[in-house]
Amino acid sequence: MTYAVRTGQEAFAHRYGQHHFTYFAEHPELGGRFHRAMAASAEMFTPVPDLVDFSGVRRVVDVGGGNGALLGRVLRSHGHVEGVLLERPEALEAARSELADLTGRCTFAAGDFTESVPEGGDVYLLSRVLHDWDDERCVTILQRCAEAMREGSQLLVVERLLPGNTAAAWDVHMLCNVGGREREEAHYGRLLEGAGFKPTACHALPLGASLLHAVRG
Ligand SMILES: C[S@@+](CC[C@H](N)C(=O)[O-])C[C@H]1O[C@@H](n2cnc3c(N)ncnc32)[C@H](O)[C@@H]1O
Repeated sequence: MTYAVRTGQEAFAHRYGQHHFTYFAEHPELGGRFHRAMAASAEMFTPVPDLVDFSGVRRVVDVGGGNGALLGRVLRSHGHVEGVLLERPEALEAARSELADLTGRCTFAAGDFTESVPEGGDVYLLSRVLHDWDDERCVTILQRCAEAMREGSQLLVVERLLPGNTAAAWDVHMLCNVGGREREEAHYGRLLEGAGFKPTACHALPLGASLLHAVRG
């Protein structure tokens, strides 16, 4: 933390020689622990299936979907919806296991969201992804999403917003571990608008998280 606070740079790469996600890809036991740790706070996703109107939605694409805890909640609540989960290749095993009961309704795509995102979704999820990255990389990820989406498709962003009870501590945590940061709602709004989205709503979620709703213009 001292290194991160003094330099404004991620301490994990300084200590371990590479970015958190590539290091974890080479150390699967740590990657497994990371996904279990993320899943421990999946309670924050519980209200999401009821906060958005999924009645006209056919396909949901979860970008950097982790172990699939959010996509699983959406698919189990809305039986007509099919899902696509995009992840780094080494993370897909955890998602396949979590979503094993949804075989036939869910497909898994190994890929890099800075290069491309699966097309054809009516709703795109970006949960706890943007806080891993600086503004420039966030806009790249959002642009890749916008390119895959058609006008009027919806984007749902789950993040902890500043100021908030735990967001300041998470802000330092994100800087240390991945060089990312937590942001205020208006800051996410600017990033979304810069990539061609219109922010339309913000809902509180459990565990100090928020759901930002945006529409592709
Ligand atoms: C903080 S986790 C969030 C996981 C999940 N969305 C959630 O909220 O529980 C960020 C995810 O982004 C994935 N990720 C990182 N870089 C990626 C990339 N370039 N392309 C696709 N996924 C990536 C990681 O493997 C990780 O699962």
